[in-house]
Amino acid sequence: MASTRHWFESVAEAQRRARRQLPRSVYLALVAGSEKGLTLRDNVAAFSELRFAPAEVGDLPATREMATTVLGQEISLPVIASPAGVQAVHPEGEVGVARGAAQAGTAVGLSAFASMPVEAVAAANPKTFFQMYWMGDRDDMLAQVERARRAGARALIVTLDWSFSDGRDWGSPAIPAKLDLRAMLAHGPECLVRPRWVLAWLRGGGLPDLTVPNMARPGEPSPAFFEAYGRWMRTPPPSWADIGWLRGQWGGPFMVKGVMRPDDARRAAGIGATAVSVSNHGGNDLDGVPASIRALSAVAGVPSRLFPPWLDTEIAETPASTARLASSILVTPLSMNGPSHAERSQATSSQDGGTDCSHCP
Ligand SMILES: Cc1cc2nc3c(=O)[nH]c(=O)nc-3n(C[C@H](O)[C@H](O)[C@H](O)COP(=O)(O)O)c2cc1C
Repeated sequence: MASTRHWFESVAEAQRRARRQLPRSVYLALVAGSEKGLTLRDNVAAFSELRFAPAEVGDLPATREMATTVLGQEISLPVIASPAGVQAVHPEGEVGVARGAAQAGTAVGLSAFASMPVEAVAAANPKTFFQMYWMGDRDDMLAQVERARRAGARALIVTLDWSFSDGRDWGSPAIPAKLDLRAMLAHGPECLVRPRWVLAWLRGGGLPDLTVPNMARPGEPSPAFFEAYGRWMRTPPPSWADIGWLRGQWGGPFMVKGVMRPDDARRAAGIGATAVSVSNHGGNDLDGVPASIRALSAVAGVPSRLFPPWLDTEIAETPASTARLASSILVTPLSMNGPSHAERSQATSSQDGGTDCSHCP
């Protein structure tokens, strides 16, 4: 079926449309790839080396069934929207992504760095998984956990792979701390050549809000993104015992995101995590980490009654940023987080016909 104005058939096209519609610095802020972009590229390249051999070609069930369960929620396909911060690139932001995911019958991950409050997102999609980082003091974290619970979040995701090495050899766009007159003058020219984007905001009744409402301390206004980021940078990294504490405070389904090694998967299981997401943050953080798909089979090999692990990447030989960018025009969620189907289909390398884990740590 040919694409139309409101519908398109591939993530590559979504990316082209996003590039055409977004101001340049907004587009570039979304494209992951720290330092040289080795991991970003490997996330895509690794898929070109893999072929999937279906386990069976006959005696298939009469109906196709893709439904599965993740973090206690039944979803209609084995894909969920991965959490991504600051989606104030579109007036509907995280609420639009949540609604799209709900329409597809699946769950949405909501970043603590989101531009929209967890209450609004959970109202749009009850299958909301709140994602947080280890940041601030325990009271701050408890406040976030309790707020997410009150809003109806069904699971907690804690992301552990961020290391603050977010410089890009290819250049990071300047992101304003807030949209004051100075920022508007600086970004005005690139916005003027994207009138549809500006119009969408004006119709939505305002300008992008660069605060992070889910980080607001009780009784205080929402901090600006960079203020919250600074708070996070000053927080000592957690031990597994700290993560165990967080898991205990939440008490419900709990995913550890950013696991790339079997020993970490074992530790996650040890503190009572109910799921792990095999993820390298889309290559957006530590460059040189192997593609998530390369680490998948080793993590899947960890004997545990808790997993199979979820794979956090696009399941396609397409540029790694495409599904993410698609979200900015609110058609597909940011990025895909799906379970390993290692037990059902065997992932083989095109070279040797065996499971490709040559890059596993
Ligand atoms: C712009 C951007 C923002 C992100 N923000 C978050 C976040 O706040 N929390 C989080 O756990 N992961 C975040 N991620 C990582 C995604 O959840 C996901 O792990 C990654 O994009 C998947 O890899 P892929 O890009 O190869 O699909 C972000 C990624 C990008 C590119």
